[in-house]
Amino acid sequence: MTKTTLRFMDSKLSAGATDVLVIGVTQQNGKLAILASSFTPAQDKKISDALLAVGATGKPGELTRIPSNGLVKSESILAVGLKEDANTETIRQSAGTAIRTLAGTKKVSIQLRDMNSQDAAATAEGALIAAYGFHSFRYSSLAEQKLPPTAISVLSKHATRTMASEISTVVGAIHFARDLGNTPPGHLPPAEFVNQAKKAIASAPITATVWDEKKLVSEKFGGIIGVGQGSSRPPRLLKLEYKPRGAKKHLALIGKGITFDTGGISLKPGLNMHDMKFDMSGAGAVVAAIKAIAELKLNVRVTAWAALAENMPGGNATRPGDVLRIYGGKTVEVLNTDAEGRLVLADTLVKASEEKPDYIVDLATLTGAQVMGMGLRTAGIMGNNDEFRSFVHHSAEATGEDMWPMPLPEFLRAEINSPVADLANIGSGKGAGMQLAAVFLREFVPAEIPWAHLDIAGPAYNQGSAYGYNVVGSTGFGIRTLVEVAKRVSVS
Ligand code: BES
Ligand code: ZN
Ligand code: ZN
Repeated sequence: MTKTTLRFMDSKLSAGATDVLVIGVTQQNGKLAILASSFTPAQDKKISDALLAVGATGKPGELTRIPSNGLVKSESILAVGLKEDANTETIRQSAGTAIRTLAGTKKVSIQLRDMNSQDAAATAEGALIAAYGFHSFRYSSLAEQKLPPTAISVLSKHATRTMASEISTVVGAIHFARDLGNTPPGHLPPAEFVNQAKKAIASAPITATVWDEKKLVSEKFGGIIGVGQGSSRPPRLLKLEYKPRGAKKHLALIGKGITFDTGGISLKPGLNMHDMKFDMSGAGAVVAAIKAIAELKLNVRVTAWAALAENMPGGNATRPGDVLRIYGGKTVEVLNTDAEGRLVLADTLVKASEEKPDYIVDLATLTGAQVMGMGLRTAGIMGNNDEFRSFVHHSAEATGEDMWPMPLPEFLRAEINSPVADLANIGSGKGAGMQLAAVFLREFVPAEIPWAHLDIAGPAYNQGSAYGYNVVGSTGFGIRTLVEVAKRVSVS
């Protein structure tokens, strides 16, 4: 969780006594120019000259750090190249890049340009999200880790203390989810995920209910049991409820929580299998989101469900050809035990629907096809209701999280027919793997409940190098969208 403090300051650039001052620069008529107008003309000229002297050009993405030599109160200045008309997400990402670059420094102030309130919020958000490192499992290499800045001041007179506290709340939730996603699989079996989640929500007005393996068996959650039974560490279903008085709408959030996905009997190849510790990112996101939603006191009833199991090929594992009975009665022939996410989600979608929520959103690192088709930074968004799917998509756009809709045409349904059961858990393998998984899920949602499904397999985990506000590893993708959805539902 973030230990970095955030505040907004209405002050001249030169006033902040911090270690580093981050400023935005650009190319104007072939020359480098400082974007903010808070410097005196003399200061502006001296800083620009000093930046030019070390080769700065102001082109987008360029980072240049110079000693301030008394020009401002900070010890050094970090100049970030930006287009003058950079959009909000670029501002967010640029602030993030700057803060990552400044790991190891303590106090940072930042003004990328003359920032209105939207710019100020984006700068604060990007900076604070980037102020993250995961070092819980280091010992001898711990001392050499450069830690994120301890204090970030965003220089804008168009921001309020409430904004700072709201941003800190959401970013705290994102960092919590990142920690879960980065935790080694051996340290985060389903029962431990439940412990961590309970600890995280302890001070929020949220109640928790847990189904252990006995209760899951007796209440016939065949999907979760079927996936979890190859592991010695049993599955769980976690339900978190936030019910503010006077809330008119009920939003159900459902997360895939495979704490480790080996593929089961349909074992995955060894290459990068270790990354499948992040297969619980959907569950992490819904727990983090309900925590933030409750802390922000949004006026909407929210139920978050985490479907938790470890997919292992151990003694009693479900075998290809086995038939599972999903909660509510539908049967599924398991043709590939690696298509396990849809099985635990099926149980949970049926269970969550019993309460007749107004909307359901599920998040899942569901398919490799999502990554192949859309890459590592864009999530697929699907559903049973175009209007609600667009509503979620627009919410995502407002936060800067990249998503794109994909169609679920009726003719795909025949691909998951089974000769022995109501459904098969995979299609013919002739493409559309992401959509087929969603078509499978759709079978478990009553048509009258608007439902959106986010396949976050790509963006949930950054396997490449750090960029913008994302470090390597778990990203916490989806949380900001869920909070935005809850905000919009709360005023709808
Ligand atoms: N967790 C994986 C999907 C995944 C793959 C997420 C790569 C992120 C990166 C999921 O459980 C899975 O294995 N899906 C299979 C389904 C297939 C057997 C129909 C897949 O996508 O290969
Ligand atoms: Zn799998
Ligand atoms: Zn999986």
